[in-house]
Amino acid sequence: MSLPHLKIYNDYNTMSAAAAELILDVVRLKPEAVLCFATGNTPVGTYRELAAKARESGTDFSRCFCIGLDEWLGVPGNKSGSCKYILQEQVFDPLGIKPTQVHLFDGLTNAVEAECEKMNALIDSRGGIDCMLVGIGTNGHIGFNEPGVDSRLKAHEQVLHASTLDSGKHYFNEPTPIKKGITLGLAQVLQAKMVLLLANGVSKSAIIRKTLEGEISPAVPASFIQQHTNAYVLLDKEAAAELTL
Ligand code: F6R
Repeated sequence: MSLPHLKIYNDYNTMSAAAAELILDVVRLKPEAVLCFATGNTPVGTYRELAAKARESGTDFSRCFCIGLDEWLGVPGNKSGSCKYILQEQVFDPLGIKPTQVHLFDGLTNAVEAECEKMNALIDSRGGIDCMLVGIGTNGHIGFNEPGVDSRLKAHEQVLHASTLDSGKHYFNEPTPIKKGITLGLAQVLQAKMVLLLANGVSKSAIIRKTLEGEISPAVPASFIQQHTNAYVLLDKEAAAELTL
């Protein structure tokens, strides 16, 4: 395995600041970059740093285009806890990104296949994703690509695993029925020109070891990152604790 960019930081804040710098560099180099963002607990610090550093440095996000990695099916985008709501609050509003610069999955769609096609076509029409920020589930998922997923898939619907549903319910401020998600596929993760995989905390240490040191297998969807030639894996010390590299 040759992971080109494995970076281990003393703590979450340093990791978050480094991830934000990498995203800023992409936008400075290519102001019309296509950026893809995950939600969840992991990138909260990155998004906070990104907004602060963009303001301080005057980095211009007015020409970039943003897409969402995934969404809970059946959950409206105006509901706190939906990926749309979180990205609006943590990324788009702070960076002054306008609705015309964004395309997200509609969690309320009743035509999932068409919704996926729309996302796939949009990514292709914009020349692919320049920078994709992803987290990792304790079961090895990226986006909502759960263990067993076909790595050749692009956007698709996914029945979510129990551990994903369990962690997912904490994102909502009231009980919210969730069962399925809509997500970009591993094919799109692998095609992105640059991927930033972030993980922090002791709860991620075992899956990080399997992801980076185990065999590449659908059983650990994130392990496909080993095949990416421009992936940055940014970890805090706790998430890196079980690595033997
Ligand atoms: C969310 C997403 C998920 C999370 C993963 C880790 O958009 O794509 O794959 O990245 O479940 O979640 P946290 O960061 O909350 O541990």
